Amino acid sequence: MRKRIVAGNWKMNLNLLQAKQLLEEIEKGNWGSEVEVFLFPSLFQLGHLQGTNQKITLGAQNFYPAEKGAFTGEVALDQLAVEGIQWVLIGHSERRQYFNETNAVLKTKLDYAIHQGSKVIFCCGEPLEIRENGSHFKFVKNQLEESLFHLNAAEMKQVVIAYEPIWAIGTGKTASTEQAEEMHAEIRSWLTEKYGHDTAESISILYGGSCNDQNAQELFACPNIDGGLIGGASLKADSFLTIINA
Ligand code: 13P
Repeated sequence: MRKRIVAGNWKMNLNLLQAKQLLEEIEKGNWGSEVEVFLFPSLFQLGHLQGTNQKITLGAQNFYPAEKGAFTGEVALDQLAVEGIQWVLIGHSERRQYFNETNAVLKTKLDYAIHQGSKVIFCCGEPLEIRENGSHFKFVKNQLEESLFHLNAAEMKQVVIAYEPIWAIGTGKTASTEQAEEMHAEIRSWLTEKYGHDTAESISILYGGSCNDQNAQELFACPNIDGGLIGGASLKADSFLTIINA
């Protein structure tokens, strides 16, 4: 059985007080062991938020792939590990777009994280012009081949994949369930080709991009959609809890 996961990516939102309050409100929710809930707050808040909560796994939006040293403004996996943070996001389209994280850079970060024993949500997804010219499968496959598919099957088990079409992120324009399921099924078929049926069936693939309390249930009902990576709708307890329960 694949893990069902709902992860909130808070991006660069919320001050510490707001983050603490929101975490507390979300923790009041009732959900069963069939779903795992993750939150990715601002890096500096991780240590402050980590102590108080039991039900939610906190992860880091970013890290630098080196042990330590002169990398002003960056955070190391060891620094995160001391705070009990094991999960990291890699490949988010905003990191690709604003911080020039190419497929090659992402491969380096991924390898570093995997060898340190971290667990990874690896994001992929195409921009609008690629969707419109019909080459979205090729584009996403290339992202995965250049950054992810060199891992062996045991290493892949440390990875969750998130498909986030860029044209759906923060736009209110969700991929239709057909568009999302079709891409997820493709990703699963590539995993089957590379790693075999059992490994492919064990890897969770999340959908992200304007997923909200109105559309989550329909998306999560698709056979290859194992949960969501949620931006805007994770910033309000009631909508995020509705998504978790979906
Ligand atoms: P939105 O849910 O705000 O579209 O953001 C999705 C996202 O980028 C999550 O990582």
